[in-house]
Amino acid sequence: MSLSPYVVGNWKMNGVRATLAEARAIDRAVARLTGVEVGLAPPFTLIAALREAVTAIGVGGQDCHVAAKGAHTGDVSAAMLADAGADFVIVGHSERRADHGESDALVRAKAEAALAAGLSVIVCVGETEAQRDSGEAEAVVSRQLDASLPSGEAAGEVGEVKLAERLAVAYEPVWAIGTGRVPSVADVEAMHAALRQRLVAAYGEGGSDVRVLYGGSVNPSNAAELLSTPGVGGALVGGASLSAESFMGIVAAAG
Ligand code: G3P
Repeated sequence: MSLSPYVVGNWKMNGVRATLAEARAIDRAVARLTGVEVGLAPPFTLIAALREAVTAIGVGGQDCHVAAKGAHTGDVSAAMLADAGADFVIVGHSERRADHGESDALVRAKAEAALAAGLSVIVCVGETEAQRDSGEAEAVVSRQLDASLPSGEAAGEVGEVKLAERLAVAYEPVWAIGTGRVPSVADVEAMHAALRQRLVAAYGEGGSDVRVLYGGSVNPSNAAELLSTPGVGGALVGGASLSAESFMGIVAAAG
């Protein structure tokens, strides 16, 4: 089984109701395409409105709490995201790991909570510039992935829904996020191959279909090269996902 390329926009802490016009334009354009799966992860405040506004694209959260409900002021559970109309959630983004001290173990627990709530999950990993410079990138990111992935039991198939439809991984080098810098094609290919090995080690055969997205300064000019790199199953896009024109330039390169 091989799924379509998956292109996801992460709006981060950007976007107000007016920004939904971009999402509507993206949705209309995606409705005319086949062979690519598209999602947008707006801030929590826009999830329900985005769900109402679109039909051809998935809607996601950018984080969730590990508990289903309770005394956790300011947090949102995976069940609440699902209730607001989300299909998926991003966990372990490097900005969450850095701003909120999220550990691999916490990221794993969030991924498992999300799957239990019926959401699909994108687990993010990536090395810092110092780790890349010291030649440790593959070892660091492989360890991060091993410790952040949901258990085989939590991630297993549910009915007819395969593992690869419930789980994706995003490789986002921290130094490439929002900087306009991207790794070489050879480095992207090598990292994606290393992550594929970890997925197969974790899940067996099912791990070979899980899409590994690339994220970090993807734009309409570099998307075709990045998306055609062996092992790259799609893109996780930050800044360029805020405008329909630039995001669709990337989506078109994936299709
Ligand atoms: O999750 C997407 C991301 O961190 C990349 O952001 O702005 O470099 O595309 P950007």
